Parts: sequence; C-alpha cells; structure tokens
Amino acid sequence: MVGTAQPNTGAEGVEGGIGLTALMVAAARAIETHRHDSLAQDVYAEHFVLAAPVSAGWPVRTQQVPDGDANPLWGRFARYFGLRTRVLDDFLLQSVHAGNTRQVVLLGAGLDSRAFRLDWPPDCVIFEIDTEHVLAFKHKVLGGLSATPKAARVPIPIDLRADWARALTAAGFDTAAPSVWLAEGLLFYLPNAAETYLIDTVDRLSTGGSALAFEVKLEKDLLEYRDSPIYTSTKHQIGIDLLSLFDGGPRPDSAGDLASKGWSTSVHTPFDFTRQHGCGPLPEQNDALAGNRWVFANRPRP
Ligand SMILES: C[S@@+](CC[C@H](N)C(=O)[O-])C[C@H]1O[C@@H](n2cnc3c(N)ncnc32)[C@H](O)[C@@H]1O
Repeated sequence: MVGTAQPNTGAEGVEGGIGLTALMVAAARAIETHRHDSLAQDVYAEHFVLAAPVSAGWPVRTQQVPDGDANPLWGRFARYFGLRTRVLDDFLLQSVHAGNTRQVVLLGAGLDSRAFRLDWPPDCVIFEIDTEHVLAFKHKVLGGLSATPKAARVPIPIDLRADWARALTAAGFDTAAPSVWLAEGLLFYLPNAAETYLIDTVDRLSTGGSALAFEVKLEKDLLEYRDSPIYTSTKHQIGIDLLSLFDGGPRPDSAGDLASKGWSTSVHTPFDFTRQHGCGPLPEQNDALAGNRWVFANRPRP
C-alpha cells in the first residue's frame, strides 16, 4: 500500500465510508439532469441512488427538496457537481478529439456513467478504476437497466493505494499511445504518498499528446470552513462527514510536480466556469468550495 491505511477499506462499497460519496455525487447529477437550466445530463444517476438502501430516500429532483436551491447540499453543492460534470465532460471529449486519443482512464470512477452517456470516437476504451465493491454495485445497477456502453469499458477493481499501474497495463492500457486521465472528486481522500504515486504514474504511463484533469483542495483550505453550510448540511442531512473523510496530512503540489515534469498546466477555480456557463456556484463567505481548484494538464508531443 502507498501511504497510511485509512479507515475506509472500500469493503463497505457505496453503503459507507468514502464509497458513499459516490452516491452523493450521483444524486447531485440526477438533480442536475432534471433542472430547466441543466448543464449536464446523466439519466443513469437516479437509478444508482434509488438502488441503494442507504440513499433510496434521497432526492433526485429539485422538487423533492423542500427548500429547493436554497438547500446548501441539494442546491448549491449539487450545482457544483453539475458544473464539474459538464466541465469535465467537455474536457474529456475535447481531449480525445484533439489528441486523436483512444484511451481514457477514470481514476476513482465511482458511479461516473460517462462510458454510457458520452459520444466517444470509434475504438475508444474507457478504463474505470475504483474499489471492488463500488464497481460491483455499479455493474449490478447498469446490468439491471440493460445499459450499453458507447465505448469499450474496462472496470479495474483495485485500491488506488495499491500498485494499480500494473493492473491497468495488464488490462490492456497501451503506454505507447496517448491517453486522457481524470481524477474527479478523488485526490483529497488519498494519502499524500498515494497522490504522489498517482501523479508519477500518470506521468510515467503517458506519452506526448496525453492530458489529465484533476480536482484538489488547497492545503490551507482543506480543513478550513468547518462550519460551512455545505459541510454541516451534508453531515446532518445524509450523514456524510466530509471533513473526517478527507486525508488530513500535508498535500503534495501535484500541479507544480507535473509542470516540473514538462506538462503544461492551468489551474482554475470552479467559479471561473460558473461565469463561463452562466450558472453554478459563486463565491460566498465561509465557503467550503473556496479552496477547490480544477487542474488541467497536457503533455506536449515531442
Ligand atoms: C466522491 S466519489 C467520486 C466518484 C466519481 N469520480 C464522480 O465524480 O462521480 C470518490 C470515489 O473515489 C473512490 N476512491 C476513494 N479512495 C479510493 C481508493 N483508495 N481506491 C480506489 N477508489 C477510491 C471511492 O470509492 C469513490 O467512488
């Protein structure tokens, strides 16, 4: 294992620990899908939420939330996930087309249904890495819907604190061909050493023309804003204490590390994209989103 063992072993699947956060994001995507001004469409999201006993009572439509968009969890935080989904959908599709890339790796894929809902170029392969129990739940729900992926889909059940690079290459990932990588809502749950290993591994397995997007929280903000309405409402309404799930150790400077390895990087706040799309969260006082950054990195061709 890379880094200190966390309480979450993945054995709880989506029913608890970090795995449960995958259901929270799915519920947010379900709500986003049915908004009149939706930024992203995910028709599978609500099926995940309704299939798990722990989340079957959560809202999957704004109309089911008594205070609607004023609710910090199902309003503003869900909007954040909707915006993030849209921005990263666009990043992935633009990257595969611009780089003539046919390999996509979703790190901590959770209940991301992009393999099923985005229009991938022919011959594209989507590798999905997450824990065994999360991927088993996903398989069961999608199987029940007879959902058909729009690209070849290769689930890789493995802990990202283990030697996942070997599992990925054994599953057919080609290090000689360009790739697009995504770590959405993942890195702040990993120990420092596992994040460093992840970034080093993406660098090692990526040829010129490859791209990576990931989300981080600035270290100074990671455990700040403890009483932010986003954190307190998530804890009180659905029992997820995000602050206790985040790895509390010092964070590596992953964007800086990639830049030093020759990648070109750009770092954005989510609010940059709110302004671009005309909807999404804007800065507030005491804001759990203040330290979130979305990083986009490209490895130049030789
Ligand atoms: C907040 S969810 C995000 C899921 C997905 N990327 C999305 O945005 O919908 C975090 C995911 O990371 C996965 N995860 C966290 N730590 C992990 C680890 N050590 N190994 C594998 N997966 C992990 C969890 O199981 C969960 O599915």
